[in-house]
Amino acid sequence: MIPPILPGAAIGVLGSGQLGRMFAIAARRMGYRVHTLSPDQDTPTGQIADVEVVAAYDDLQAVENFARHVSVVTFEFENVPAPTAQAAARYAPVRPDGEVLHTTQQRIREKRFLAHAGLPITPYREIRSPADLKQALTELGYPAVLKTADFGYDGKGQFKIDSPEQIPDAWTAVRREESVLEAFIDLQCEISVVAARGAGGQFVHFGAIENQHSRHILDISIAPARVPPEISSRAVEMARAVLDELGVVGVLCVEFFVTRGGKLLINELAPRPHNSGHLTVDACVTSQFEQQLRAVCGLPLGSTAMHRPAAMANLLGDIWSAGEPNWVAACAFPDVKLHLYGKLEPRPGRKMGHLTALNHDPDEAYRTVEKARRSLERT
Ligand SMILES: Nc1ncnc2c1ncn2[C@@H]1O[C@H](COP(=O)(O)OP(=O)(O)O)[C@@H](O)[C@H]1O
Ligand SMILES: [Mg+2]
Repeated sequence: MIPPILPGAAIGVLGSGQLGRMFAIAARRMGYRVHTLSPDQDTPTGQIADVEVVAAYDDLQAVENFARHVSVVTFEFENVPAPTAQAAARYAPVRPDGEVLHTTQQRIREKRFLAHAGLPITPYREIRSPADLKQALTELGYPAVLKTADFGYDGKGQFKIDSPEQIPDAWTAVRREESVLEAFIDLQCEISVVAARGAGGQFVHFGAIENQHSRHILDISIAPARVPPEISSRAVEMARAVLDELGVVGVLCVEFFVTRGGKLLINELAPRPHNSGHLTVDACVTSQFEQQLRAVCGLPLGSTAMHRPAAMANLLGDIWSAGEPNWVAACAFPDVKLHLYGKLEPRPGRKMGHLTALNHDPDEAYRTVEKARRSLERT
């Protein structure tokens, strides 16, 4: 066993968004120092970190220098290029390792991995030309979703195809690059399992969390998910298989589709804390961010027990359209917690913060969080 990285040490975070911010809060609370690297300045993570390095991810000299000053490197942004992870790994352990990043940052590699592991996935075809697309559509039928293989998030780089006339538009939407075509699934609901795996293989999970999307962006999460217990437990077992198979040291989230027929299909993987796990900060003994910290530092993982069920609502930049939201109104809900990420510019669709409501009844938590979010709107 390698010795654990103890409080007082510096942790490096590649990426500087809200995931890094909440990680940094957890790390600083436990007495660690945090360094962050990204191309931006005055970032959500940088505002909390001890050191904010501003450099491009492909500035390998800067990345090496960054890694020299920390005991371990982790990431909050899974599109960190592979050479960046390799450069960091010359000076500090990278956790989860570059191999995990490599597999999960590209949809084709990810789907091949899942298929090879015998895990259920959405029917799909690999697409490299309009001819591939035409052929795949005759096989999978309509509607179907075309997704770029690289750099997709929050529904970016996706196009739903309802008829053959849309083939040219769809191909343009994915920038004529390598893509996957997926059958469009008739969904009962979507769930996710956020789990952590320690350096010695210890596995913990937060159970199934239910997710509702709006415009392909996560809108609301509810925990525990309102699905039959056998669906939750099957999802957890699949997540365990994914983390073990990949040898993850850190946190990984598995997103699932639950079909109308009650079947579970893995949609995608995120090798880091996940938006659906934000409610663990207020609802659980150990948050997803503290689990990431413990895992990458080689510490024992904490309890994932829930104090109370919870619901989380994202706050997108759209809420600012009529001026500064009414924070006082949201704070008037005694069981609702406000999280803001310190982002300076509230653009539409941009994740600016979230609210978490706690209640012994998940349905009630859901209703309260929606009410609290509506109370923010200026009329
Ligand atoms: N094949 C599909 N069938 C039905 N809905 C889908 C499909 N693919 C994506 N979606 C919807 O779009 C959302 C975002 O897609 P996802 O592949 O998870 O991309 P992202 O990387 O942007 O999160 C999903 O959570 C789901 O609501
Ligand atoms: Mg997704």
